[in-house]
Amino acid sequence: CFAGLDSVWVFGYGSLIFKADFPYIERRPARIDHWQRRFWQGSHDHRGTPEAPGRVLTLVEVPGSSCKGMAYRVHPDVFAHLDHREKNGYLRFETAFHFDDGSEVNGLVYIANSDNAAWLGPAPESDIAEHIANSRGPSGPNDEYVLRLAQALRELDETDAHVFAIEAYLHLLAAQTDED
Ligand code: BEZ
Repeated sequence: CFAGLDSVWVFGYGSLIFKADFPYIERRPARIDHWQRRFWQGSHDHRGTPEAPGRVLTLVEVPGSSCKGMAYRVHPDVFAHLDHREKNGYLRFETAFHFDDGSEVNGLVYIANSDNAAWLGPAPESDIAEHIANSRGPSGPNDEYVLRLAQALRELDETDAHVFAIEAYLHLLAAQTDED
């Protein structure tokens, strides 16, 4: 489906922001409109296991909202790597990426929706944090994913109430564990 293209833009809103384990031609902070992050996707292969899935990000459609992340311009071959890395229920869709200078391009975003087998769906943020605090998988502890993401979002000047609330709960849980 990339026939004839020299490069394609892909938008990172989660681990792609802080873990670019693929070659890219350029990267630029960007925004997509009408989507927000949620820890509603199960992770069987990175931050959890099939028996005890962790929780990782997907996007949900929220009209009027926006989501800031990192856009990468990559050679089309990179999608073979990304499709494998994100094989646990993610599909790609095309949308507009808005750059800080007001320009825009169309590119691809990975999203997991409720149709996929690893979907966990909504839960109170305190329950999500507890779940994350108790999960780990081949890529490491699930809480490390949240803490690295929150740090990367601060570096982008992005305020994400969902991510920062879960990060705050994780700090509380860690402080409670230290007291025990
Ligand atoms: C991302 O960081 O944009 C991303 C999140 C989940 C799956 C694929 C990509």
